[in-house]
Amino acid sequence: MNLVVVSNRVARGKANEPMTGGLAAALLPVVEKSGAIWVGSSGRVRDGALREPFAEIEALGAGALAMLDLPAAHYGGYYEGFANSALWPALHSRTDLISASQEDYLSYREVNAFMARALLRFRKPETVFWIQDYHFLALGAELRDLGVTQPIGFFLHTPWPARAVIEGVPHHRELIEAMLAYDLIGFQTQDDCESFLSYVQSNLGLDVHDGIVTSRYGTSRIAVFPIGIDPDNFAQQAAKAVSHPDVSRLRRSLNGEKLAIGVDRLDYSKGLINRINAFDRMWTLRPALERTASLLQIATPSRGAIEAYGNLQSELAKLVSDVNGRHGEVDWTPIRYLNKGFSQTVLAGLYRTAQVGVVTPLHDGMNLVAKEYVAAQNPADPGVLVLSKFAGAAKELDTALLVNPHDIDGMARTIATALSMPLTERRMRWEAMMAKLRARTIQHWFSDFVDALQETRIGRRAAEQPTAEPPELWPRRSANGARYH
Ligand code: G6P
Repeated sequence: MNLVVVSNRVARGKANEPMTGGLAAALLPVVEKSGAIWVGSSGRVRDGALREPFAEIEALGAGALAMLDLPAAHYGGYYEGFANSALWPALHSRTDLISASQEDYLSYREVNAFMARALLRFRKPETVFWIQDYHFLALGAELRDLGVTQPIGFFLHTPWPARAVIEGVPHHRELIEAMLAYDLIGFQTQDDCESFLSYVQSNLGLDVHDGIVTSRYGTSRIAVFPIGIDPDNFAQQAAKAVSHPDVSRLRRSLNGEKLAIGVDRLDYSKGLINRINAFDRMWTLRPALERTASLLQIATPSRGAIEAYGNLQSELAKLVSDVNGRHGEVDWTPIRYLNKGFSQTVLAGLYRTAQVGVVTPLHDGMNLVAKEYVAAQNPADPGVLVLSKFAGAAKELDTALLVNPHDIDGMARTIATALSMPLTERRMRWEAMMAKLRARTIQHWFSDFVDALQETRIGRRAAEQPTAEPPELWPRRSANGARYH
């Protein structure tokens, strides 16, 4: 088998470089070992890219990393536009934030079609394609249009919302029909799977039996593959990282005070405003906790060119400064708020230093910070995870302290409970979570998906005959996008 993994963002990164994408950081170690070719965006755009895809290729473990310059004319409409201003808010049930023009949609489809054409150069008869995330919902259909008959799988790293929510996305029907070109569609949780299948049955009127959908493309299997981490490796990294200068400095600055930690991309799905409000409420209701416990909140800037992200950054900065102004003392800052990224190594050490991990998104596909916080703990004296019940991770980590991120008082009480939890209970909860992490690692996720994809393909259209020449690159469709409805 020759595996080709595709995602918008790829990780070149080493453990000591900052990384913002949960997806890219998670995939790096497994893709590296698998010998796959990982194809994604170079982060650069190029004017002539539609005519001549340009890829920079470098070795990655036993395989390769191919980074493509994306077409300049369509990049904004694709990334800031349709992917992150229509799909992302919808997938996180923020219909109020959906905004995308017809041009954005056309650009999204153009970039999907561009990626499909570029992928032909990596295709061999035994190739298996595995497409990642919401940037490429239509990539499978584009590959099929180009005559690709090899297995193509898709995994969504975000949640999949209720029908009424996804119906808020322009062209939802066309996109979801296109998704059925995939042989296997993987989701993080059973709820995501069910919402998707409910759309397929009710909106597309298609039959579903045992998670198999039959469409004009043939059959697609819809299944759950909860993404994991490598907990033992992360634990080792954390144990070593406590002597990292940044981590030592943090420890020294604490003066016996307890620490809660939050690490997120600066994104409205992460529930950051509610989290800060919960800490504010906790210090107001329990003034005895002032000076004895603080919050280190790392909020890494992300997608800054999009208005909703800029607004959140200003709102959050104002709120943090207001809370610090009211509760702070000359020698005590309640919230240490940092707008920058940290390497995995440093994060592992910071997690181990904090007595409480607060992971309270309003909606989240999985949330690997929750899993990493658990793995980073000292088994003899583990910290407590406060976890939103709306993160995919809550389905597995059910011995965390689960909270409703909309209930500020409830979160305030739970964080206070976490800060004073006795060792025996902390250990009991932590051991149960660690066992779950070990039972479903990132290696399991990767091989379970690839195995299922290969099996699913049996029964799909046969005859795997690659076309000798890649088809004409451009133009494949009229500039006014006549092909799309
Ligand atoms: C989430 C998405 C990923 C994305 C990452 C970072 O984890 O599921 O696909 O790469 O956020 O976002 P960015 O827009 O910076 O790639």
